[in-house]
This record gives sequence, structure tokens and C-alpha cells, in this order.
Amino acid sequence: MGRLSRFDLKRIIKEYKTTNLFETGTFWGDGVAYASQFQFNKIISVEIIPEIARKAKARFAEVAIVDIVEADSVSALGKQLPLLKGNTVFWLDAHFPGADAKLADYASGEDGQFRLPLNKELELINKYRKCFQDVLILDDLRVYEDGPFQNGLVPPDAMPGGERSIDFVYQYFESTHYIFKSFLDEGYVLLFPKKNYNRNHFKLGDLFRKKPVVADYYLLE
Ligand SMILES: C[S@@+](CC[C@H](N)C(=O)[O-])C[C@H]1O[C@@H](n2cnc3c(N)ncnc32)[C@H](O)[C@@H]1O
Repeated sequence: MGRLSRFDLKRIIKEYKTTNLFETGTFWGDGVAYASQFQFNKIISVEIIPEIARKAKARFAEVAIVDIVEADSVSALGKQLPLLKGNTVFWLDAHFPGADAKLADYASGEDGQFRLPLNKELELINKYRKCFQDVLILDDLRVYEDGPFQNGLVPPDAMPGGERSIDFVYQYFESTHYIFKSFLDEGYVLLFPKKNYNRNHFKLGDLFRKKPVVADYYLLE
């Protein structure tokens, strides 16, 4: 399972002037707990499984800036994005409803809005967030392609149906964001807005190459 704590949110907030964090897939709320140490005005996290959402709501009941939403991520984004103001860090980590909590199999359900909602999530973010300079962190790259992932290749039961590819990420965001891959853990994709981009932010690779490179500047061990 990917970890938001891999990423240096303090630096991201400072360099990209992000005021909110929007997480899809709350699970027990460890991503929210990490994010709440930083200077966000609002942290929204969406969880599809009612039992998990209930526990997360209880965990953050006293934290005023945290809003745990019980819904599927696509419906929640459709409702919330038209109202969301300010640059936002999106931590897109919703997949395999209930499987990490052992309430369901990784194989259960159909890809699309619920089991693997990433494509639809990005479609909505692309539609509603054109006026903002958002940073996006996508978890579980290994679901979409093979590579030298620290934690190995995706198990067969967690494979998407049909062709595996993250071409959709490029289709939606190539014109507005620089897109990087990391092979740490189960793999991440990081998107940084071109408008606020500072060339010195990156230690590795040449940003102007077409081929993506790992951006380790924001990664913490
Ligand atoms: C990998 S865990 C999330 C971990 C969490 N983001 C963190 O940083 O600690 C994935 C969570 O997403 C939830 N989930 C799966 N599909 C979802 C969907 N379509 N909408 C919302 N939540 C979903 C699962 O039930 C599970 O709790």
C-alpha cells in the first residue's frame, strides 16, 4: 500500500501554494493523519466502505479541517470539485473497495467507477480544475504497467481488465503538468503544474525530455 508520508508536503505546500488536500480512499486515515500535520485549510477524504468511513470519522471528529466523506470517489469529486477553491494536493488512492481491510477480494467488482476509479477521477479533475495549479499524486502505478517496483509486480487478482496503461494520465494532463514516475513501494505517478514549476526542484533527469523520470526531490524515506 502506498504512503502519503513518502512525500514532502511541507515543501509542496510552500512551492505550489496548495491550500487543500483531497484524498480518495481513506482506509484507516493514516494519509489524513500525516496531512493534518501541515498547513492545509481543508482536508477532504472519501471512503466508499461505510464501516471504514465511520471509523475514520470518529478518528478525526476533533479535527475541524478534516472532512471524511462516505461515498464513492467519482460521485464525491463530481459534487465537491465545482465548489473547491484554492490549489489542491490530490492524493488519489481509491481502489479495490474493502480489500485492504479484508472485507472483500481484490478481484471483486468491475473496473470503472468503483474498483479502479482513477481514470474517471482524473477526467473530473481535468474538467473542473483548469483554473488551479494542483499537484497530483497517484498511487499504485504497478496496477497500470510493469516496472522495477520496490514491492514487485502487481498480483494477478489486482490487475485491471483489458489493456494496462496510464496513457489516460498523459491525455488529461500532459499540456498542464510535468508527469513523473516513482518505482518506490507499489509505484507512484506525480504531476506538478507547469505554471509554478521551478527547474531546481528536481534532482534527477531532464524535465524537458518526453520520457518521464523519477522526481525524488519530494520523496522522503
Ligand atoms: C489503499 S487504501 C487507502 C489508504 C489511504 N489513502 C492512506 O493513505 O492511508 C484504499 C481505500 O480506498 C477505498 N476505496 C476503494 N475504492 C473506492 C472508491 N471507488 N471510492 C472511494 N473509496 C474507495 C478502499 O475501501 C480502501 O479503504
